[in-house]
Amino acid sequence: MRTGVITGLGSALPEQVLTNKDLELSANTNDEWIVDRTGIRERRIGGMTSTLSVEAGRKALDQSGIDPAEIDLLVLATTTPDQMVPATASVVQHQLGLNCGAFDVNAACSGFTYGLVAAQGMVTIGVNNILVIGCDSLSRITDYTERNTAILFADGAGAAVLQVQEADTPAMLGWDLGSDGAAAGILYAEIGGKLVMEGREVFRRAVRVMVDSARKTMEMAGVTADEVALVVPHQANIRIIESAMNKLDLPMEKAALNLARVGNTSSASIPMALDEAVADGRVKPGDLVLLVGFGAGMTWASAMLRWDGA
Ligand code: COA
Repeated sequence: MRTGVITGLGSALPEQVLTNKDLELSANTNDEWIVDRTGIRERRIGGMTSTLSVEAGRKALDQSGIDPAEIDLLVLATTTPDQMVPATASVVQHQLGLNCGAFDVNAACSGFTYGLVAAQGMVTIGVNNILVIGCDSLSRITDYTERNTAILFADGAGAAVLQVQEADTPAMLGWDLGSDGAAAGILYAEIGGKLVMEGREVFRRAVRVMVDSARKTMEMAGVTADEVALVVPHQANIRIIESAMNKLDLPMEKAALNLARVGNTSSASIPMALDEAVADGRVKPGDLVLLVGFGAGMTWASAMLRWDGA
């Protein structure tokens, strides 16, 4: 069968560091509270979605060693496009020198996993090589005087090259995509406005949808929790991750974590954490890797990958 295997990963962050101490100057908050209630110590801000996407995309292409001329499709997951029109994917495609179709996906923090699952489907209908990028520049829609959201959101990009392989078993063993628009009002930004969030309600639902989605994906994959080598959760709040991991009977040592340094980067969160885990040698060929996230919408998404597709 045709299956898509990740052959390269890349990440990008803007240079400006915004620490919890910095936030004490603009919002009524403090470092100790933020670390205790979220696990975040600092974050990066000041990026543009196209610029960060190009940097992460180029690194993923370099790591995979693929000739950019062989990329057949670009999927850019973002909830913060640079412009209303055109899609940021077209701008990124041009700047990367790609000659292929390109489109944006907006599923907020679930975006990268949505994009990866869609790309995997495209491989089965004949597309050979796909660049999937998750990127957000949330600092552009965050009010830094509003402590509820200012402490969480940040900018970043993560990218993956998906290449076709002929194999006996699929490299994506299971997946789940979901949405509940009835909860659209608990996390949103009007066009031209800033993010508004009901934090406690998002927290409560986040744990539930992460657990449900991960279970569905494990069931589709025919995999039990103890067989999973690495979980790459959306980096929203360490307490959400701990609670979901606990309910799934997965020890925290199996979680890929980078939120202390980068905060919640929405669509970039999962691919950046995956890139770091792979660079740190935490994933071996044949390992089962579970991606699981949730976001505004509400949306949620998960996928079970067999690393290297072997
Ligand atoms: N700094 C300092 N104190 C704060 C604070 C802040 N940023 N935010 C709230 N507080 C205070 C409150 O006033 C309250 O004080 P009180 O007990 O004296 O009344 C106390 O801390 C608890 O407030 P609460 O709103 O219950 O905090 P919380 O534990 O729910 O944490 C969030 C707030 C936003 C960190 C948390 O709800 C959260 O992470 N939610 C999920 C958000 C998320 O993941 N969004 C992205 C989705 S992709």
